[in-house]
Amino acid sequence: MLTIKQALEEAGQLQAVSESWQLDAELLLADALQSSREHLFTWPLQELQQQPLNVFRSHCQRRLQGEPIAYILGSRAFWDFELQVNHHVLIPRPETELLVESAIALLRSDQFQVRQFQDRESQDHQSPALQILDLGTGSGAIALALAREDQNWQLTAVDISAEALQLARKNADALKLSNIEFRQASWCDGLPANEYDMIVANPPYIAADDEHLREGDIRFEPLMALVAEENGLADIRQIVRQSRDFLKKDSWLLIEHGYNQQDEVAAILRAAAYSNIECRKDLAGIARMSAGQFLA
Ligand SMILES: C[S@@+](CC[C@H](N)C(=O)[O-])C[C@H]1O[C@@H](n2cnc3c(N)ncnc32)[C@H](O)[C@@H]1O
Repeated sequence: MLTIKQALEEAGQLQAVSESWQLDAELLLADALQSSREHLFTWPLQELQQQPLNVFRSHCQRRLQGEPIAYILGSRAFWDFELQVNHHVLIPRPETELLVESAIALLRSDQFQVRQFQDRESQDHQSPALQILDLGTGSGAIALALAREDQNWQLTAVDISAEALQLARKNADALKLSNIEFRQASWCDGLPANEYDMIVANPPYIAADDEHLREGDIRFEPLMALVAEENGLADIRQIVRQSRDFLKKDSWLLIEHGYNQQDEVAAILRAAAYSNIECRKDLAGIARMSAGQFLA
């Protein structure tokens, strides 16, 4: 019989694959015990039953093969909630929270308050929802964060992958969200024109020959979620071009992109007649996303 402390020591083998191996081991053991990390620190001398020990060792084997913790645990925290994840979806990244934050700030700005007021006046005092489109929703991370923020925002979440959509629906159900419609499509194909107050997207933007694709967690993620042709820019180009026909006048496109794609994305937005183009950087000064307004 091993104690909690001894099992965590045994997991020292994870050093070979992970810089954060201690944290990984604690998360994996807490999951095997269906408990919390606090439990491990409080009861280090507790002896493990065979079943949780087997689960823990199997988790560690998977981690040793390089599999990301989020796939082994089947979940990842994003924004202010927990999402189920599996091999069909990208593991949501902290940097994508910058896109969520920017979208919320814009949707709460005077521009949209005035728009909702005017719509209410013209539509018999009913309060119409703002229409927001999330392209390439994956696990649903962005759409769910926005849908939770305001029940008066109506989300349409699109993905080409049926498996991703199945999981995104499950995540929406777990959070009891009813203001999201899911749709299987390639980007904007088949959607109603001039309908959306905002389009948000975190499309694939990594070039096929990028060496990062052969390193670490990313090796286990679906290529369909990561890689785009034309040096990583093909999907961004397509979304920027298409989106104009689906936005209402004066509405916004917010798009995540690679740390070194800021200038190219600005040029793509300009060429598609977007205005007020702005790139947002994270706290480390790394370019993460750009926004543009379609004024025509
Ligand atoms: C980078 S992942 C983003 C996932 C999620 N929005 C997030 O931020 O974590 C890109 C997503 O785009 C989807 N995708 C790829 N090509 C697509 C297409 N032509 N039309 C719609 N979705 C597509 C992939 O299946 C994947 O879920």
